[in-house]
Amino acid sequence: MMISGVWIAACSSRLPVQLARPYLSTLPLGLDVFMPVPKNNPLTAESVELGRRLFFEKRLSRDGTLACASCHLRERSFTDGRPVAVGIGGKRGHRNVPTLLNRAYGRSMFWDGRAASLEEQALQPMVNPRELGNTREEIVRRLQASETYRRLFRRAFRTEQVTIERVTRAIASFERTLLSANSPFDRYELLHDKNALSESARRGLDLFRGKANCSVCHSGPLFSDERFHNTGVSWGRQPLDLGRYEVTKLEGDKGKFKTPTLREVEKTAPYMHDGSLKTLQEVVESYNRGGGPNSYLDSRVRPLNLTPQEKSDLVAFLKSLSGSLK
Ligand code: HEC
Ligand code: HEC
Repeated sequence: MMISGVWIAACSSRLPVQLARPYLSTLPLGLDVFMPVPKNNPLTAESVELGRRLFFEKRLSRDGTLACASCHLRERSFTDGRPVAVGIGGKRGHRNVPTLLNRAYGRSMFWDGRAASLEEQALQPMVNPRELGNTREEIVRRLQASETYRRLFRRAFRTEQVTIERVTRAIASFERTLLSANSPFDRYELLHDKNALSESARRGLDLFRGKANCSVCHSGPLFSDERFHNTGVSWGRQPLDLGRYEVTKLEGDKGKFKTPTLREVEKTAPYMHDGSLKTLQEVVESYNRGGGPNSYLDSRVRPLNLTPQEKSDLVAFLKSLSGSLK
């Protein structure tokens, strides 16, 4: 189903834009019909197939125990249900695993936006000692030694030569096919199907755009402006995580994190960059209190005075953002 002119394009114009077709002949209702795909990494069935295989490949980790899919589990909408990630040897990271859905449309990757593209992002977990803990050389060596991978690389890139760039390109292509939309919300909003949302969820939608002011940051088809804000989550708590500031070293970026998408949010608990909030009720309570007070707090996060009914309406709305996974 294609409906144009409803959404303002959420995609970055910095990337050369190419229609992600014919590989994706239909996009789920509610996503922008123009998916940005870098010119040097066209989306083909062969590269997606290779990328899918690599995403589940435990040989990417130093000790052969973990793959991307160990932390990004499909049944949890590509998160892991833990507050913070656990990498090889049981090493704990300090951030919550974000969903990979609709990242094709993302402007930057990670909670602090330190990677500019999916291609650039994919290398980091492979060499991060707290995640897959491997080296580029070792990964290339292992894949090059495999007959199956040589064949898959030939099909995807017309050469058997494994390089780390080709590995990350294939993974990025696979990730571009992980999409979620066509939720009850989309059917209500775009197909004007009044019955798609319960009365409570409809009131929640009004609050989301009105009194609770959520949509100033959770905007567009992804329910994210893809920008960075300080909402005061875990402010001052150890270990100190200053978010975007760690990347830019700009004073004003202290405690800012990327607005996460709210699509499939019912399935991606626990919440926030450090997984510190367990349920959607807790998230709504936290916003209702006005976030975490600190001198860098975004001025649009302020006490909301929501009634108990309004809080449960907001939660009902958030739950209407689960759709069909493509
Ligand atoms: C040990 C668990 C773990 C493994 C293994 C892992 N990730 Fe992640 N992933 C995370 C965490 C935690 C973050 C957020 C880190 C941050 O923001 O600093 C993340 C972030 C991401 C993001 C950014 C999403 C966004 O919203 O910005 C992408 C894309 C991603 N991972 C893909 C991958 C790929 C591809 C692999 C395999 C090569 C992989 N991950 C392996 C835990 C993991
Ligand atoms: C000023 C921008 C801003 C406003 C306003 C805002 N949010 Fe957020 N939201 C964010 C940011 C940034 C994060 C991540 C914060 C962090 O992890 O430290 C976030 C995180 C969340 C999460 C957690 C998602 C996840 O996957 O972890 C939910 C749910 C959420 N917001 C819902 C809401 C609701 C409901 C409202 C309105 C009551 C709202 N937000 C208002 C920016 C905003």
